[in-house]
Amino acid sequence: MNIDGKAWRTIWLEPGGRAVSVIDQTQLPHNFTTLKLSNCQEAANAIRTMVVRGAPLIGVTGAYGLMLALQADPSDAALEVAFEQLNATRPTAVNLRWALQRIQNKVKPLPPAERAEAARAESTVIAEEDVAMCEAIGNHGLAIIKQLAAARPSVRQQDPIQLLTHCNAGWLATVDWGTALAPIYKAHRAGLNIHVWVDETRPRNQGASLTAYELGREGVPHTVIVDNAGGHLMQHGHVDAVIVGSDRTTGCGDVCNKIGTYLKALAARDNGVPFYVALPSSTIDWSISDGIAEIPIEARSTTEVTHIQGRLANNEISQVQLSPDGSEGFNPAFDVTPARLVTALITERGVSAASKKSLKKLYADT
Ligand code: MRU
Repeated sequence: MNIDGKAWRTIWLEPGGRAVSVIDQTQLPHNFTTLKLSNCQEAANAIRTMVVRGAPLIGVTGAYGLMLALQADPSDAALEVAFEQLNATRPTAVNLRWALQRIQNKVKPLPPAERAEAARAESTVIAEEDVAMCEAIGNHGLAIIKQLAAARPSVRQQDPIQLLTHCNAGWLATVDWGTALAPIYKAHRAGLNIHVWVDETRPRNQGASLTAYELGREGVPHTVIVDNAGGHLMQHGHVDAVIVGSDRTTGCGDVCNKIGTYLKALAARDNGVPFYVALPSSTIDWSISDGIAEIPIEARSTTEVTHIQGRLANNEISQVQLSPDGSEGFNPAFDVTPARLVTALITERGVSAASKKSLKKLYADT
């Protein structure tokens, strides 16, 4: 997608193929910088410290991280160590394990001398597939936004279609296009009159920093709101639909996404607002069916709760403390929205009910 008129992706292979570069998302929205990752350790650190984040991008970075490890040492032992090192960085988004397994399955049967090149080729395939899946999600979601527009009463036809999103499930969370934001970009480019309510998404504020940044660069009208405002906006008819992403979706349609997503789903249900979840199939964990019981929820540093990062008047990026010295914090990074609260899943293969039957029908070959 575009930044100041130039098309970017979030991750790319450097010429020669012995490093990958990424956009450093810890510096956005105030500084646009890129970072070169030259070995597996650097790739793992980038995922752990959220230089890169978002389920699909974590997966692609993990795949390239394994490639970098194999360039240094293609032995079975080194492959195993690198797999575990990368897989341990963030536990909730299943794309990471999925991408690492894809690389492992590809290279394990090969002689060591051929492994790094095979990992490079497969990582690039995963990255390109992610772009294609996200664009397809955008097209399927566009059809839904068009339906929402057509269903509005004639007195509201001139008003923008109001969409609410949580966290950042845009192109910065993927390789390009995004998941929840892909339909929004497609709708904007198709000339539909849309407006996006952007949940700030405490504690790390991916909405206020990343989603607002992305939408602004693409010229999509949006307004940042505090996380607690969504229910009020829905009660007053200011939200036509909620669209969010997913870090892990069970085979039965439960959805695990950034902490606070569940509360938005409850408010949406109470107000008759459709609640859509956009996800590529790389996010589906077919091995589990009960999201609340079975999805590991990452607990992050409590300083993300007690402190906040922002730009000072002198342009320096800094952290300030919010809560009193000595107060404890607790920081679960994700929550699970049960399938019964999800209006539909928007996948690269089309729109599915959040149910085992419907998902199985769409993915009969998996
Ligand atoms: O902790 P993050 O920033 O990695 O969390 C990201 C999200 O929760 C996204 O909504 C999710 O990964 C879907 S991304 C297309």
